[in-house]
Amino acid sequence: MFIASDDIFHKVWILAKTLNPMENEHQFNELQTVRLKVNGEQHELLLLPWVSLLDALREHLDLTGTKKGCDHGQCGACTVLCDGKRILSCLTLAVLKEGAEITTIEGVVRGNQLHPLQQAFIDHDAFQCGYCTPGQICSAIGLFKEGKAKTREDVKELMSGNLCRCGANIGIIDAIMEVKDGGMYE
Ligand code: FES
Ligand code: FES
Repeated sequence: MFIASDDIFHKVWILAKTLNPMENEHQFNELQTVRLKVNGEQHELLLLPWVSLLDALREHLDLTGTKKGCDHGQCGACTVLCDGKRILSCLTLAVLKEGAEITTIEGVVRGNQLHPLQQAFIDHDAFQCGYCTPGQICSAIGLFKEGKAKTREDVKELMSGNLCRCGANIGIIDAIMEVKDGGMYE
């Protein structure tokens, strides 16, 4: 089978980033092929079974919009959408998501237009450093899909897994409420 040269470079690059040089031979045998559709694009990755979805996105696909905060399921910075549901990518093994459709912050724009939540975050000053923002926005999109949040208190409660160390919480909830009440998330 013919393999384009940039495919070979890509695979070598992935291996170089994945393998521990001290244990190359052993780890090579552990590599697994994982197919993921990320932001509408199909990808086939060679990953060790313990690689998190977060690391697969950031280190193997260069989608660094998704942030690593605690890496322990405590902060929500790594939230992405998996088959439409919000998940913590730091707690998710990439190999367990074989065939899944993943949406990251890079995939929420609508053509040349920001997602209404992205615009609302700007309008409401809903961030300072911005580190939590991709996770907040992906989480809020998941929240809308769940359809459980009816009131501002519901939104606060159901977004409580996404922490903002800068204290931009009021702006974040204001932004989410504006999009929710305006029905702009469909
Ligand atoms: S990085 Fe995943 S929850 Fe903090
Ligand atoms: S804007 Fe800095 S952590 Fe939220």
